[in-house]
Amino acid sequence: MTGPQQPETRADIVMCPDGPMLVRGDVVVEDADGTQHRTTRPVSAVCRCGRTSRAPWCDGTHKLVTEARER
Ligand code: FES
Repeated sequence: MTGPQQPETRADIVMCPDGPMLVRGDVVVEDADGTQHRTTRPVSAVCRCGRTSRAPWCDGTHKLVTEARER
């Protein structure tokens, strides 16, 4: 016999280790200069490393940053 069922939860924001912040749903991201960017996908990756060429969105550059740091 099992205990009471816990409601399934699904995070709206997921922080990826050494990577982006994944945001679920329609949201507006405001960057440092106040420019607002609306998400266009069901899940969007927001850059946290500061190296992307598509700010505020992750373009995968964080992988190079992580690899360089590990050398
Ligand atoms: S977190 Fe992916 S490019 Fe910055």
